[in-house]
This record gives sequence, structure tokens and C-alpha cells, in this order.
Amino acid sequence: MEASKGSRFDIHVPARMPQSPGVNSEGARRHTDGSEHHLSVLVRLLKPSSLGLLGSGYYSVPSYWMCPGKQSPFGIYRKTSTGEIASILEPDSIYIPGADGTNEPDSVLLRGDSRIRLLSYLDVNLESIIASRLTDPFEKAELFYYFAYRRLRVAYKNPGNITVFGIKQIADILVEQILVDKKIMEQIFLIMRDNIYKTTENPECTIMHSLHVGMLATFFVAKILEHISKNILKDIALCYFFHDIGMMRIPQKIMDSTDPLASDAWSLIRQHPCFGLEIMKEIQGTPSEMTYIIKDHHERLDGNGYPEALKGEGIHFFVKVCSILDAFEAMVSQRTYRRAFSTTEALKIIKQRVPQGYDPVVFSKLAAVFFQ
Ligand SMILES: [Fe+2]
Repeated sequence: MEASKGSRFDIHVPARMPQSPGVNSEGARRHTDGSEHHLSVLVRLLKPSSLGLLGSGYYSVPSYWMCPGKQSPFGIYRKTSTGEIASILEPDSIYIPGADGTNEPDSVLLRGDSRIRLLSYLDVNLESIIASRLTDPFEKAELFYYFAYRRLRVAYKNPGNITVFGIKQIADILVEQILVDKKIMEQIFLIMRDNIYKTTENPECTIMHSLHVGMLATFFVAKILEHISKNILKDIALCYFFHDIGMMRIPQKIMDSTDPLASDAWSLIRQHPCFGLEIMKEIQGTPSEMTYIIKDHHERLDGNGYPEALKGEGIHFFVKVCSILDAFEAMVSQRTYRRAFSTTEALKIIKQRVPQGYDPVVFSKLAAVFFQ
């Protein structure tokens, strides 16, 4: 299937849905010029067989993954000029670069059995690493995408104050990064385009879809409302990430069905905005925008949406953004019951539903931001 040429957001969806965010099927990192480089360290970390343990049982990671002033649950080592392994930091100690009397190296060594603890460490310290240690937009995007998906997966499967707070941090990181340097989004688009995390399980599709819509909608709002308050943008981002959480209450057999759905199944699916609202109103401190973004994202301007058949101006601008990007992302993704549409096809279909279903101003701005 063809993607529109020259676009910054050509999502090419392969035959299968993504299985492992942050890595493409070949484990290579891809740059905006289309070239592929060496295996990224994160890819190697996620695929133990590619970890490349040195003969001594250690593997190498960038030193900027280690957070100054933070306790490390694993020992940190380096290779000396004579090729021996020397300890930089004992396990459960505070990492301070240069504390061993040497300059911080570009990379450090970790023991092979630290892999799982390292993934947790990166998750816990994500904000610090992305905000203050990393400079490469691809590496930022790769770490952000993988851990955002990992956290959203936990939150969707077990929504609660703590797991939702984890996504609040993700929303904060996203907004801070977008406002400082939009290059991270270009790299995230490339990762999304590659549909790096392949899965055929529908609940995973819902979570990945929500992640993508959350990132696209936040970027879009930041782009067209340049003076929007940072805090509002963070709240909106959080709401976008959870817009489809109600789908987690739809029985698996309905989600897995490849046959046309019966009317009772459809009526259940049409309740997912209300299910989502029920789930999220139990969470402390959710923003007020949560209510209408979750509840109204399937409403349409002509009143043919659900669950309340709202019309036109009864639908908030932030919801109109969510509605279009929700439809767009779903169309360009593979489903068990249909092939993925190309970006060109998806845009054409959405355009046909303007202005009856979708807002013409939001659509034209969206086309300008993502496809010109
Ligand atoms: Fe939905």
C-alpha cells in the first residue's frame, strides 16, 4: 500500500501489528534520512540474544543512562587501559560520575544478570535521563516510546492512582520535550511509522492506538495553539492517552471477532466512552478535560455519534482533535477484520466525512501540520 510521498508522517503499516515498541524488526535504528545504523543499545537490551555479552559476562551501555545522584541497584564497571574490568560503583550506591577518580567514560559495563533491573532503573529515571542526560533525538524518542508504551500497558490493564500517575509523568515529559525541541517528535513519527511493536492481540492494539493518538494529538494541539499553557497541554495529553481506556471492558471474544459484529456487540462497544469515564472518575486528581475527551470522542458534528449524539458546538475543540486523530490512527493500523489503509486513503475517507462528522477547521489544520 502506498503512503503519501514527502510527508513527515507517512505511516506504513506492515502486515502485522507491532510486537515490541522501540525496536524495528531488524533491531536497527533508523534516522530521518532513512539510513539505518548499528543496533541501538535499547534494542539489544530488549533482545537478550543480541545483548552481546563480553567474554567476561558484562555488556556495555551508554554512561548517560546512569543518573548522577541516584541510587543504582546494580554495580557499574569500566574497562581499564589494560583490558581489565574495574568497579566504578558498588550495587545499591549513589552514582556520581568521576567518583572513582577517572573521567566519566562514554560507556560503562554492567553484569549480564542486571538486564531486568536496568529496564526498571531506566523506567524510574526516564524523566531525568531524557531531560538532562540524553541529547540524541533518536535515542530520546526510542527510550520515550518504549517506556511510554510499557507504562500505558500497565495503566490500561490496571488503572489506579499510581499507574495513572506514571502516565502523567509521560505526558509531562512529552510536553516538555515538544516545547523544547520538536525533533523528538520527528523521531517518534519514524518509530510509529515502522510500527515497531508487533502484536496481534487486540488489547495491545488498543493500548498502542491510545499511545499514538495521545502523542499525535498533543503534538498537534501544541503546534496550532502556540500560546496554550504548558499545564493545560500536559492535562490534555494525559486525557488523550486514556481516551480509549473503556475498551478494556469489552469482552475479549468481541475484540477478537473477525466476523461482522452483532448489534448487541456494537451496542456494548458504543458504551466504551461511558465505561472509560467510570474507570477514570475513580482516579484521584484527573483533569476536568478527562470527562469530555473520554466521553465525547465518538460524537460527530451532525449528531450521528455516540453515546449522547451531541452536535456541533456541543463538542469541545480538544475532543474534535481527538476524534479525527482517533479515526486516522485506527484507519492506518491493521485490524483482525480488515487491512490497514494508507495515509492517503485514510485522509481521503476522513475528508469525505467533513463537515458532517469532523470539524473542517481541525481537518484542514491537521492536513497542514502532518501532511505538507
Ligand atoms: Fe474510542
